[in-house]
Amino acid sequence: MQSIVLIGGYGDGLVAAQIIADMRSAGCSVSLLGFLNDALKVGDTINCWPVLGKIKDWEGLSEDIQFHICLHKVGMMDARIKLIESLCIPESRLISLVHPAACIADDVIVGKGSMICQHVTCQPGSVIGNITTIRAGANVGHDAKLGNYCYLGPNASLCGRSEVKTGAHVGPNAVVVDAVVLEQFSIAGAGAVIFKSTPKYSTWIGNPARRAK
Ligand SMILES: CC(C)(COP(=O)(O)OP(=O)(O)OC[C@H]1O[C@@H](n2cnc3c(N)ncnc32)[C@H](O)[C@@H]1OP(=O)(O)O)[C@@H](O)C(=O)NCCC(=O)NCCS
Repeated sequence: MQSIVLIGGYGDGLVAAQIIADMRSAGCSVSLLGFLNDALKVGDTINCWPVLGKIKDWEGLSEDIQFHICLHKVGMMDARIKLIESLCIPESRLISLVHPAACIADDVIVGKGSMICQHVTCQPGSVIGNITTIRAGANVGHDAKLGNYCYLGPNASLCGRSEVKTGAHVGPNAVVVDAVVLEQFSIAGAGAVIFKSTPKYSTWIGNPARRAK
């Protein structure tokens, strides 16, 4: 049985908790022990799961525990990456969570510590980075690339050969069109359709997308 501790809390943390429950129902030998969370204290619970300590306490937990980091926040990924990297959790201790109802083509590479939710499709040749989240119903097109620390919102779509670089965020129902690049730390707002490659740290809304920031 693989024991898992989630680093984070409500929101994506509970999405991850549900994936672990669904993996278990599908026959995977996984078990959620609880959360590490800086805003709550030991003895508190997140839904039914206990808070086991602060985030920095990961190092004191048993070496056979694997961690999954749920610290994505729109527009704050630069700071979150610094926090995650400061923890120095070895890649070998990070577990990726793939929902049993996701469809992942045989040759897809999924990085360490990433989360792939229900009804996601990853088409042949696509690559998913480390600590990247793909929410329910999203599509990663053929040969598309999602970098490290990225977020693909519910029902979002990356068309073939598109690329989403480190720390970038694709909102729910947004589309990145064929071979277009969403640069590092850029944000495609909910429902945005990105037809042209973007500069780093830019925010885009609408269809066709216009620059908001
Ligand atoms: C793009 C986004 C980050 C901008 O957030 P923000 O800077 O806080 O923007 P505001 O909410 O202050 O809105 C500013 C203006 O842009 C408009 N706007 C904001 N997001 C928009 C979007 N996605 N599409 C069209 N218009 C949008 C607002 O209506 C507002 O218009 P107004 O000035 O005429 O009232 C945000 O709206 C968004 O789409 N976030 C994605 C949500 C998400 O991914 N959640 C997690 C996954 S479920």
